[in-house]
Amino acid sequence: MGNVLGFYLFLFGLFSFIGMGTAIAKPSPCEDCHVKITPMMVKDFNRGKMAKVLTCADCHGSDHMSEKDVDKAKLPTIETCKQCHPEQANQYLEGKHALGLVALQAMPYTHMQPKAFVEGQKGCGGCHTLGLKTQADRQTEGRKYYKYGMDCQNCHTRHAFSKAEASEPEACETCHMGFDHPQWEMWSGSKHGVTYLMERTIDPKNKDRAPKCQTCHMPKGNHRVFSAWGFLAVRLPEDDPEWMGYRATILKGLGVLDPNGKPTARLDVVKAGKVARLTKEDFEAERRRIVDVCKECHSPAFVDANIQNADKMVKAADKLFAEAIATVAGLYQDGIIQKKPGQAYAYPDLLTFYDVNTKVEEILYEMFMDHRMKAFQATFHMNPDYATWYGYAKMKKDLVEIKELAQEMRQAHFKATVKTRKK
Ligand code: HEC
Ligand code: HEC
Ligand code: HEC
Ligand code: HEC
Ligand code: HEC
Ligand code: HEC
Ligand code: HEC
Ligand code: HEC
Repeated sequence: MGNVLGFYLFLFGLFSFIGMGTAIAKPSPCEDCHVKITPMMVKDFNRGKMAKVLTCADCHGSDHMSEKDVDKAKLPTIETCKQCHPEQANQYLEGKHALGLVALQAMPYTHMQPKAFVEGQKGCGGCHTLGLKTQADRQTEGRKYYKYGMDCQNCHTRHAFSKAEASEPEACETCHMGFDHPQWEMWSGSKHGVTYLMERTIDPKNKDRAPKCQTCHMPKGNHRVFSAWGFLAVRLPEDDPEWMGYRATILKGLGVLDPNGKPTARLDVVKAGKVARLTKEDFEAERRRIVDVCKECHSPAFVDANIQNADKMVKAADKLFAEAIATVAGLYQDGIIQKKPGQAYAYPDLLTFYDVNTKVEEILYEMFMDHRMKAFQATFHMNPDYATWYGYAKMKKDLVEIKELAQEMRQAHFKATVKTRKK
């Protein structure tokens, strides 16, 4: 008898649980229509935690209610999520990601690209449409230039918005891969990555004995993502005078210093986009943040030796790079390469990337964006193969080619001037 009562009580509990579930899931008019229009989207959303509390209208507004007024649907920005997640949003806004669009728009080179490569979600814009704080940020040049953005939804893909998904290293892969920033390839091939990925299948509860991207770059779930060296691996001031010599040449190549070594307007861009750490305190603070993470698993002496060694590898790479820049700069100074329209100085401009007119500058661009990046980034991501063979070794090859080409260009130039003089 008691058992039967128990059974009824159980059924009662079960039904009220289901009833409660549907009451909280609150079917909305948006979902009723969208389950026909975009069924997978509705399904994704309802699997997530937010579906228990939110409806579509919480993020998209309720002005659009039919096929005819789709334009009235709001597309969320950081501001939307910030209403309920101020901690994560504020950290994110202080970090480097939120400057993605600033960096892109500041590049002289971006404006030479076909618009489709900038505003869509596959060219530069595919990774850099970051930092859309409000609806107004989507409007550039008087129209919807960046209609769709990719801030919080980068790691927490819509409409799953899952914490677990954002915590896996693959959440970073799509953007941090490939030619000039192959952190994914370097990490996943390193002892760190290999150990993490193996443990994820062997014994998932042990996977965090090796660090993934988030362990080092988002310690304690901090959304302020930043690094000491930044993308370009330049910093100021530099105590080592020899290294400062190389750095000065690199900064001239970046157009941050003019050929005489005076700061240019681009220094303001570097400041606005936080492209480089410009005080020792700033650099050290970022450095400490990450090194403290290493020390949770390794001994301090091991970590310090490792990081100091990594900095020395950056210096060695800079030596080759500075020599290459100076070689190409010599060709400008001697009138062998002419300035392009709009080019400020008779000096190679690294920030024009591949938009250059000579073969020798194409090689310099590859040395900059491909080989120096790998040499430097791999040293911090514990990947000996990338640091050596895809990085430093290729830089050596670039330098030989640049010097040989420079020689040929000088000879051809000399012959051409002799000929015109004879005429
Ligand atoms: C009667 C059907 C219907 C209802 C109700 C409806 N939608 Fe839509 N919605 C559509 C259709 C159809 C589209 C796609 C139009 C297209 O892509 O051409 C759309 C598109 C959207 C978009 C994409 C907008 C863009 O610019 O890409 C969002 C966001 C959206 N709906 C949210 C909502 C929300 C929130 C509600 C409830 C407040 C809602 N919808 C109610 C039919 C509906
Ligand atoms: C927590 C906030 C949030 C909720 C709730 C939400 N969305 Fe979205 N939605 C987003 C974000 C973020 C984007 C991407 C915006 C962008 O690309 O700039 C998006 C984009 C969209 C788009 C256009 C992009 C595409 O892939 O087609 C549609 C349509 C859409 N949502 C419909 C819905 C519907 C229907 C619901 C309810 C089932 C819903 N959303 C609930 C945040 C939300
Ligand atoms: C109206 C308030 C509200 C808005 C707006 C909102 N959220 Fe949430 N969010 C919540 C609530 C409530 C939870 C559930 C907390 C819980 O159950 O632990 C949540 C949970 C989450 C989680 C954790 C999910 C998990 O797997 O644990 C993520 C990630 C998240 N939100 C991201 C976003 C993003 C991104 C946006 C903007 C596109 C957004 N939220 C907008 C209220 C909101
Ligand atoms: C670069 C990837 C990345 C981006 C971009 C990102 N997140 Fe997260 N988010 C994470 C990770 C990783 C976690 C898990 C942190 C942890 O382990 O506590 C997380 C956790 C969360 C949580 C759950 C917090 C908790 O402890 O339950 C919320 C809410 C959230 N993020 C909101 C946001 C919002 C809002 C934005 C945009 C302003 C955003 N995230 C952008 C990676 C990201
Ligand atoms: C073991 C810790 C660790 C892991 C794991 C890790 N990183 Fe890093 N990362 C570093 C260190 C250290 C630096 C250099 C910091 C400095 O400048 O002092 C760095 C720098 C970076 C930079 C700046 C440019 C560069 O490459 O030096 C990016 C971007 C980056 N990491 C992304 C990632 C991504 C994405 C992943 C995962 C695929 C990842 N990192 C995994 C430690 C780590
Ligand atoms: C949508 C593409 C995208 C995703 C996904 C993404 N990032 Fe980034 N990340 C960027 C871009 C673009 C920048 C450079 C921002 C700028 O231009 O200022 C950046 C910058 C960084 C930096 C700072 C480098 C510096 O200059 O100091 C780190 C570290 C970093 N990301 C780590 C991560 C980690 C870890 C994840 C995953 C948890 C991740 N990112 C996910 C696009 C992305
Ligand atoms: C696959 C994604 C992706 C694409 C496509 C992409 N970027 Fe980036 N970009 C990144 C990431 C990730 C970083 C940060 C890498 C790091 O710090 O190692 C970055 C960094 C930068 C930076 C340096 C920002 C800083 O403050 O340090 C500039 C400038 C830049 N990108 C411009 C461009 C331009 C211009 C294009 C198009 C020709 C482009 N990017 C295409 C992902 C991308
Ligand atoms: C969550 C723990 C953890 C963190 C954090 C961590 N490591 Fe590791 N590290 C490991 C594990 C596990 C291995 C692989 C086991 C081994 O090689 O003995 C490893 C391997 C290494 C190796 C290769 C050693 C070898 O003998 O092959 C180097 C170098 C290294 N870590 C340096 C660092 C640096 C520098 C940092 C910080 C930027 C760091 N680690 C952060 C756990 C960690």
